[in-house]
Amino acid sequence: MKPLDKRVAVITGGSQGIGRAIARAYRAAGAHVVIAARKPEGLAAARADLLGLDADGDVHTVVANAGEPDQAQRCVEETMERFGRVDILVNNAATNPYYGDLIDLDLPRAEKTVRVNQYGMIAWTRCAWKASMAEHGGAVINIASVGGLIVDPHIGYYNATKAAMMHMTRQLAYELGPKARVNAIAPGLIKTELARAVWEAREAILTAKLPLRRLGTPEDVADAALFLASDASSWITGQTLVIDGGALALPIGVEE
Ligand SMILES: NC(=O)c1ccc[n+]([C@@H]2O[C@H](COP(=O)([O-])OP(=O)(O)OC[C@H]3O[C@@H](n4cnc5c(N)ncnc54)[C@H](OP(=O)(O)O)[C@@H]3O)[C@@H](O)[C@H]2O)c1
Repeated sequence: MKPLDKRVAVITGGSQGIGRAIARAYRAAGAHVVIAARKPEGLAAARADLLGLDADGDVHTVVANAGEPDQAQRCVEETMERFGRVDILVNNAATNPYYGDLIDLDLPRAEKTVRVNQYGMIAWTRCAWKASMAEHGGAVINIASVGGLIVDPHIGYYNATKAAMMHMTRQLAYELGPKARVNAIAPGLIKTELARAVWEAREAILTAKLPLRRLGTPEDVADAALFLASDASSWITGQTLVIDGGALALPIGVEE
């Protein structure tokens, strides 16, 4: 039997990048997948890609903004109507509208970042919990970032929301156990559209001293997300798994 046989997974930001790779991994592992994102055309392309896999699970798409709790509710309701349960929730969508010093951060962009990255995680988890996980159990996986463990010159506030996600992962593991497990993944630099401006022109420099000498792929993160969704991790909750090619395993003072 496949590791996620007939389980039902909801993935925010599932139309591209890391979210889509997780959806592919889950469907290949036997799951029905529900992917949510803002743009219908991205969802349609992702659906076609997912249905192209040689797998049995169904694919459903929902237009929803991760920062809108009523849209989280609608997505979970649609999932319950179609599949009858939510076994896995991946809080993957995030936003990063501000680059600059924390000291100069304006309130509108602070509120937008918190709304999607922090409150979104709570709202989507609550919807999945109340609709299904409180009764049937489940696994929640939050996509944080290694940025939540370090200081960065440009994206300090985004990183602060990722640090909050890691803490809330522990908090929710406490609150939702033993029915649901709640874990996080902290990716390093992954070759997706979100991070293209960071890696595209500097890949050789960025990887030269990285212990594993390459940047991450969405599939690297998806493999970890599959582990944390499956019974192979059934005694793990409240943890953050760092997937960074060894970026945090460098001596202090080693520059690019
Ligand atoms: N790439 C990296 O180096 C890296 C490193 C550490 C952590 N991460 C984290 O990994 C996650 C995925 O990033 P990625 O690199 O895969 O990004 P990506 O390639 O830009 O994909 C983002 C996905 O999220 C959707 N999305 C964006 N904002 C949304 C919102 N408000 N509500 C719902 N869906 C939304 C996008 O579709 P629509 O535009 O149609 O909504 C798309 O499907 C994020 O949490 C990010 O912080 C990424």
